[in-house]
Amino acid sequence: MLDNLQPSPPDALLALIKLYAADSRTDKIDLGVGVYRDNDGNTPVFAAIKAAEQRLVDHQPSKSYLGPEGDMAMVNGLLPHILGDVNNTIKIDGLQTPGGTGAVRLAADTLYAAGARRIWLGTPSWPNHAPIFKAAQMEVLTYSHMDVATQSLDWDALLAALDSAQTGDVVLLHGCCHNPTGVDYSAEQWAHICAVMAQKQLFPLVDFAYHGLGQGFDADSAGLKTVLAHLPEVMIAYSCDKNFGMYRDRVGALYAVVQDQNVLTDVKSNMASLARANWSMPPDHGGAAVRIILEDAALTSMWRDEAEAMRLRMRKVRDMLAAAGQAGSVDFRPLATQNGMFSMLPLNKDQILALRNDHGVYMAGSGRINVAGLSESNIGKFVEAVGVVSG
Ligand code: LMR
Repeated sequence: MLDNLQPSPPDALLALIKLYAADSRTDKIDLGVGVYRDNDGNTPVFAAIKAAEQRLVDHQPSKSYLGPEGDMAMVNGLLPHILGDVNNTIKIDGLQTPGGTGAVRLAADTLYAAGARRIWLGTPSWPNHAPIFKAAQMEVLTYSHMDVATQSLDWDALLAALDSAQTGDVVLLHGCCHNPTGVDYSAEQWAHICAVMAQKQLFPLVDFAYHGLGQGFDADSAGLKTVLAHLPEVMIAYSCDKNFGMYRDRVGALYAVVQDQNVLTDVKSNMASLARANWSMPPDHGGAAVRIILEDAALTSMWRDEAEAMRLRMRKVRDMLAAAGQAGSVDFRPLATQNGMFSMLPLNKDQILALRNDHGVYMAGSGRINVAGLSESNIGKFVEAVGVVSG
């Protein structure tokens, strides 16, 4: 039986982690996988998380099962941060998932069970989006999200996609900090998109994996709030892996918003059954630490400050890159107007390989860079290397 399997290539993005680790150059630069790095290139555990974990060690009474919903106090505790003032005005329920990836997969399974068969994806997108939806039996339809050469949103392609979409199609929207381009919608564009989607009865699935890391927690929720104001049903795939620094602990949540409480109860029961069939229950440790933070005002404010410091550092790197102007054929100035951890440079495969082989600069094969991999100490070398390979 197993002889039938053809070799499956390793995930290119995750393979970069090993390639980078095996490189002995001391001045190598890691701009690959989406992990925050501080000015010294480290990815420390949040102090708020350390404090919460200590409380877990000291006081957690049991590690017996919680059930497919996971830690509901964590799931509900996130909502005021995600929704702010609209939290009490909508019918929303959710459950804990293994990271944002689990939330996206569970959303796809739930939507499929509800009859959805097609999903629209702006490309480039997170490389795992299409495989997840295909694994959930959905047909993936694509349009261009961004023109990488001009670093501008491909607005016309988006409108054309919405125009040709059929009632009941799902549209994947990045809540903020678009991965991999950093190119988000303006308030006017969100309103326009939502009006068209409402008119055509398209279903919004909002992937919200970088909340707080673009323009700040409140501003980053603005697009989602516009979706909630225009559309009667929404699903939100939320990740705590970046904004709590929980990466390997896999902390996420999937939420559904509907207009009718009975429908919400049914949706939640389906999400729980599908979670049970997928992973039975989400891992608890990270979610419990997040819950402890959210239940404690002092830890909450410590966490928000730490996330804000990450955001501001990435903004500073963007400003430094923009100040560098042009290097070879690459114009860094648009990066100051983009959001979050990623931007996508107009570099071809050979140039990206030359950056890796000749200069020890590791970035995704798509040209995506993680700006958190840069700091005052290596940005000069990076800009110069880009100039050499693209000049
Ligand atoms: C990324 O895009 O680098 C992260 O979301 C990590 C991953 O799972 O791909």
